[in-house]
Amino acid sequence: MTGQGTDLYGVVGHPVGHSRSPLIHRLFAGQTGQDMDYVPIDAAPGQFEEVLAEFHRRGGRGLNITLPYKGDAYRFATRLTPRSETAQAVNTLCWRDDEVLGDNTDGAGLVTDLTANLGFTLSGRRVLLLGAGGAARGAIAPLLERSPAEVVIANRTVSRAQDLATRFSALGPVSAAGFDDLEGVFDLVINSTSASLTGEVPPLPVTSVSTDTLCYDMMYQKGPTAFLAWAGMRGACVIADGTGMLVEQAAESFFMWRGIRPDTGPVLRAVRSQLS
Ligand code: ATR
Repeated sequence: MTGQGTDLYGVVGHPVGHSRSPLIHRLFAGQTGQDMDYVPIDAAPGQFEEVLAEFHRRGGRGLNITLPYKGDAYRFATRLTPRSETAQAVNTLCWRDDEVLGDNTDGAGLVTDLTANLGFTLSGRRVLLLGAGGAARGAIAPLLERSPAEVVIANRTVSRAQDLATRFSALGPVSAAGFDDLEGVFDLVINSTSASLTGEVPPLPVTSVSTDTLCYDMMYQKGPTAFLAWAGMRGACVIADGTGMLVEQAAESFFMWRGIRPDTGPVLRAVRSQLS
């Protein structure tokens, strides 16, 4: 039941019906005793700003933003955190006094999942990032912050990977490559492409992964994605989908809104059991 003192939050996207964010944030709220509700909001194309204005009129306090509106939210925010400026995308909005603060918690969510949940040490490791779209852009700075030996960005359209490598070169050892040019084995391969949506696997060489490689797909679905199935057949040491990243980015948003860090472990188990 939503009471008078209940603070309203939500997720805006199109489509948004499949979103697990309401489940995650309601579990966080229950666990931490926060009086809040969290609702999915579908914004039809061209309606994004109107939907946000209406949400704010209803007393809404904060929103998560999912596809395809992370760029619109970046332009909508009146103040940006440094990490959302770097990513040029916003997945979290927070109304405070007269301003709308925009943040991006995706990259932090990825790194927390890799390090805290999966126990992977990024420092000194070779990292291969597949894809050069918005999802990749949000991940590069948080990965470089953990001092990997290098981050190689491989993309079908090599010029997009080159643009990203140039943009982030001041932050650490990052370079671009075409899939055919990849050399040597990587400690971590992160799939940020949308290939999994169509059941495709980015055409990376089989020699990029070994039995010691962690293969990670930012996507999640019921069962392994095409990339993780490919990696599993090649004996990659650990395969992991983006469920942990989803829950960890949600926890970062929750912290920004409520100032409390939820315990993500039980929530991750609940989301996984819903997906299995
Ligand atoms: P997002 O914001 O989710 O990252 P995007 O900006 O549309 O989405 O980027 C999609 C990424 O997936 C791109 O890197 C795209 O490669 P191109 O830049 O060459 O288009 C990549 N991608 C999509 N389908 C792919 C496929 N079947 N194989 C390999 N890469 C694919």
